[in-house]
Amino acid sequence: MDAARISLRPFKVSDVDDFLKWGGDNRVTRYLRWDTISSREEALAYLEKVAIPHPWRRSICLDDHSIGYVSIKPETGDDRCRARVSYALATQYWGQGIVTIALKMAVSNVFNEFPGLVRLEALVEADNKGSQRVLQKVGFLKEGLLRKYGFCKGEIRDMFVFSLLLTDVIL
Ligand SMILES: CC(C)(COP(=O)(O)OP(=O)(O)OC[C@H]1O[C@@H](n2cnc3c(N)ncnc32)[C@H](O)[C@@H]1OP(=O)(O)O)[C@@H](O)C(=O)NCCC(=O)NCCS
Repeated sequence: MDAARISLRPFKVSDVDDFLKWGGDNRVTRYLRWDTISSREEALAYLEKVAIPHPWRRSICLDDHSIGYVSIKPETGDDRCRARVSYALATQYWGQGIVTIALKMAVSNVFNEFPGLVRLEALVEADNKGSQRVLQKVGFLKEGLLRKYGFCKGEIRDMFVFSLLLTDVIL
């Protein structure tokens, strides 16, 4: 994949049809907290109520078409030193290095955008090997297994926690 074709930008209402293509795919949402989008109306409501107002959610774009997302959500108050990272990509683009490129772009900017932020963390289910590999390729450290930590798609799951500090090297 030519990295010059990949960009990150805020979501727009006009992304609705592109978003429905990947947000409506169970394989994309399998490890995500939100449910598969089932209609254009739902896609529009999600963009307007969740994606656009989000503190830092970017559309991963290929030639300016939305094919996925990266989001970084800082905690508030005394916990604003850390932020939670998540991402997903349309299935037809898996395995081409796109999320690795997008996540590197995201993490290299975000520490400047949120003063006081020193730690990014990601929680990944044990069997989500592709996501763990992405984090390792970007430079995140696998810190350990959190047993029975997160609720996803009807079950409480074990999750690995990964982190990248402001002082760490992005690979
Ligand atoms: C996980 C996901 C984001 C990866 O995106 P991607 O653009 O395909 O990732 P990349 O191509 O940058 O890297 C994937 C890496 O994982 C590896 N990989 C993929 N599936 C794997 C598996 N089952 N076992 C081991 N490695 C695997 C690939 O070989 C690649 O590593 P390599 O470059 O060393 O060969 C994408 O599959 C996705 O959207 N999944 C659904 C949503 C999701 O799981 N989000 C993360 C929630 S924590």
